[in-house]
Amino acid sequence: MSARLGVNIDHVATLRQARGEAYPSVVDAAQVVLEAGAEQITIHLREDRRHIQDYDVPAVKLVTERYGVPLNLEMGNNEEILDVAINVKPEWICLVPEKREERTTEGGLNLKDKNQYEKVHQLCTKIRKYLPETKISLFVEADTDILQKCVELNVDAVEIHTGDYAMAFNRGEATDSFLKNYTDAYKLIKAAGMGFHAGHGITLENLGPLVKQNLFEEYNIGHWIICQSVFDGLANTVSKLKASLN
Ligand code: PXP
Repeated sequence: MSARLGVNIDHVATLRQARGEAYPSVVDAAQVVLEAGAEQITIHLREDRRHIQDYDVPAVKLVTERYGVPLNLEMGNNEEILDVAINVKPEWICLVPEKREERTTEGGLNLKDKNQYEKVHQLCTKIRKYLPETKISLFVEADTDILQKCVELNVDAVEIHTGDYAMAFNRGEATDSFLKNYTDAYKLIKAAGMGFHAGHGITLENLGPLVKQNLFEEYNIGHWIICQSVFDGLANTVSKLKASLN
């Protein structure tokens, strides 16, 4: 069985917000990626609303419902965002650490920290109470102690932060230790009957060794897809404009 592809369309909203325009449409983006074979849409409603806006969440959910695929909502520990989730009822919620000043999510939840563990525990309890059908994944590093905390929290899946692996690969550095950690993490998580997902920094090239390992059941990929789409679409778009000018 091939792994599922979840496409993170946050960066379409980043382009829209940069100009305060109504385009590019996040709803159209969801439809295009699902037509192309994606099996899930992932969006991150951040506290600072820098890309996805509250109104995007129900709009994208209508598209995923039409295609019969899950909506995976990434969120930090925030009551207002939990309210949005409660209204929209995504199939998955992926809990991530969130700092306002970071450029993107910079690593997984540090569940070794008692305070953070307790906050995640409370948030999981609320999600289970208000969204009993929604599955929960935790965005974490492939660290045995942290993964054991995920098992304790009895969530449905972990999403392993692959950002550091991806950066090492892109720089041509050794990645063996990351791949070994993923194998160990897989064994621990599968023994607990949980899902094993991956996300962050993945490109077509650095995806290769991960796919070869055949451990991850799901990949959530965003930034590289949108970046590559610029070059896959640029010539075509300029040709269209030229045709119109002519
Ligand atoms: N998974 C999680 C939990 C994330 O925070 C992100 C980034 O928003 C992604 C996956 C997608 O990462 P990227 O945009 O680097 O492909």
